[in-house]
Amino acid sequence: MKNGKIIFKNVSFSYFVNKDKECLKNISLHIPSGSTLGIIGGTGSGKSSLVQLIPRLYDVTEGEITIGGIDVKKYDLFTLRNEVAMVLQKNELFSGTIKENLRWGNKNASDDEIIHACKLAQADSFVETFPNQYDTYIEQGGTNVSGGQKQRLCIARALLKKPKILILDDSTSAVDTKTDAMIRKAFREEIPDTTKIIIAQRISSVEDADHIIVMDQGKINGYGTHEELLKNNEIYKEIYASQTKGDNN
Ligand SMILES: Nc1ncnc2c1ncn2[C@@H]1O[C@H](COP(=O)(O)OP(=O)(O)O)[C@@H](O)[C@H]1O
Ligand SMILES: [Mg+2]
Repeated sequence: MKNGKIIFKNVSFSYFVNKDKECLKNISLHIPSGSTLGIIGGTGSGKSSLVQLIPRLYDVTEGEITIGGIDVKKYDLFTLRNEVAMVLQKNELFSGTIKENLRWGNKNASDDEIIHACKLAQADSFVETFPNQYDTYIEQGGTNVSGGQKQRLCIARALLKKPKILILDDSTSAVDTKTDAMIRKAFREEIPDTTKIIIAQRISSVEDADHIIVMDQGKINGYGTHEELLKNNEIYKEIYASQTKGDNN
């Protein structure tokens, strides 16, 4: 894979079980390599469906997606999924130590690489407080770490793959706003060549992105920077207002 430039060309998509309902309608989008794209939109607007087409968890019904200038269908699936790392809201840790869990992202990762990835994902600070640190045993389902800690470990695991494209699908929902901002700052500074796609409920999670798209009913309703969308996009303005209500009191 040459780089992490992603292009959607007139992409439409329907789930097989729901053939008559177009879930994504004529999406065209250019995501420069190394940039950060934020995605905002209501539940069911097509955000997850859109990003799942990139590592080919599903295939487009119409149109084309290219990465680094090449149709995603032309890549070997193993290579594609190694270069495109995706973290979901409900990401799972298995029973085993933190190190073992993280090496699942990259079995050859050194201890130093594991610590570095955890620093970027803002996980190192809490792992250090555990008596056994990186050898701490994670219980079945990760019940002995909090939701936000689990999410940060899953981000670290994805970073260990050193992907060309990193997709976070609502995967900092349980992380506090300040830590969330520190994760994005680390991404900007430490993995500038990785293309980052961040789906979020909170505007604060995407406001510093290079571009943001507003999804509505399977279509791109708005595209721009935070400032541009605040001026021009009704849905974005509404979400922003609902999330900042009371801040001036
Ligand atoms: N696996 C699936 N099979 C069939 N329909 C689905 C599936 N996943 C999502 N959908 C439908 O596709 C539409 C978009 O969903 P989704 O992409 O998950 O939206 P979002 O991530 O914005 O909440 C919704 O109508 C949803 O019900
Ligand atoms: Mg979703």
